[in-house]
Amino acid sequence: MGLQSIHFLQKCGHLAKKNHLSSKYSYSKERCLNQLKHFSTGKKLQSFNAPETLKPSESVRPLEPKVTALEGSATSPLPESSPKIKETIVDEVNSSKTHFGFQSVPEELKETLVGKVFSSVASSYDVMNDFMSFGIHRLWKDHFIHTMAPGPGTKLLDVAGGTGDIALRFLEYCQKIHSDSTAHVRVVDINPSMLAHGSERYHKSQFKQNNQALFQVGNAECLENVEDSSVDVYTISFGIRNCTHIDRVLKEAYRVLKPGGRFMCLEFSKVDAPFVKQMYDLYSFQIIPQLGSIVANDRDSYQYLVESIRQFPDQKRFSQMIQEAGFATVGDGYENFTFGVAAMHTGYKF
Ligand SMILES: C[S@@+](CC[C@H](N)C(=O)[O-])C[C@H]1O[C@@H](n2cnc3c(N)ncnc32)[C@H](O)[C@@H]1O
Repeated sequence: MGLQSIHFLQKCGHLAKKNHLSSKYSYSKERCLNQLKHFSTGKKLQSFNAPETLKPSESVRPLEPKVTALEGSATSPLPESSPKIKETIVDEVNSSKTHFGFQSVPEELKETLVGKVFSSVASSYDVMNDFMSFGIHRLWKDHFIHTMAPGPGTKLLDVAGGTGDIALRFLEYCQKIHSDSTAHVRVVDINPSMLAHGSERYHKSQFKQNNQALFQVGNAECLENVEDSSVDVYTISFGIRNCTHIDRVLKEAYRVLKPGGRFMCLEFSKVDAPFVKQMYDLYSFQIIPQLGSIVANDRDSYQYLVESIRQFPDQKRFSQMIQEAGFATVGDGYENFTFGVAAMHTGYKF
């Protein structure tokens, strides 16, 4: 990717953050060009750091900028009619698209937009989860851990695990069932605000005294600091649909698991029963964004949530993708929860 392309992406991402971009934003070529012109006022790009609560001494690595801030040319105003720059921008805007909810956006922008959603919902995430699901997400997560049934000393990697929901349930299970305090979980999430939330919960828990968890900023699509064949179980709960390239996430999961290791995913899925589907759609599109607006003062993020669920592959297709990544599955490879509102997928690395 050329320097100008990188600048363009940084600027779009930065603009998205600065302008509190609504999910209604349309990323038309013209709009990006216009925004870019407005942006070219000589501001230096900032790197993004983890909040103060996430200190390396607390086993949390601050977020390193994915694209290092580029000085010099990034600070120079863009000439209004530079054909070369326009060409580069048009190239980028015409580059591969992905979905962000029901919108089509350049692939490179999705991560920034998803990041904005989770930074915005982090403080109200738990309350909203309980409101939206009537607390049912707790039962799903409990069942998920009971199905995993980890043995003593299990090494778990929980990806997109910012809230610590899976990590703490896992440690509680090992403590309760095996009186085991040697099990360990490494939590990786791309969003420092979400991670701060889970890290805080962990630091207040009994598990801190034996250093049973590590919280790190990282991208599911490129788990740079996780060694090949190093973990017993890999979990990703309600995280994978937010990733730009699901195939890359699965490939990374396969790489880091030990032979015999297990991939487990909990994610919203597809409801088939017609009457339930009608009710569920009504609830999703009419009530949830409204709840988001009232409880979290953030309608757009919850609109994204319901839209992103509809974009995620259905149970069968996702199971196929898991197999394509190299995993073996048993039977269908998944179990539906609550009529398929959510599904648990499992794959084995042999
Ligand atoms: C809906 S929350 C789920 C949190 C938790 N796993 C749970 O079950 O409650 C989705 C999480 O995915 C994280 N996420 C999104 N894209 C990611 C990526 N590419 N890599 C790692 N984490 C990501 C978000 O930051 C957010 O914390």
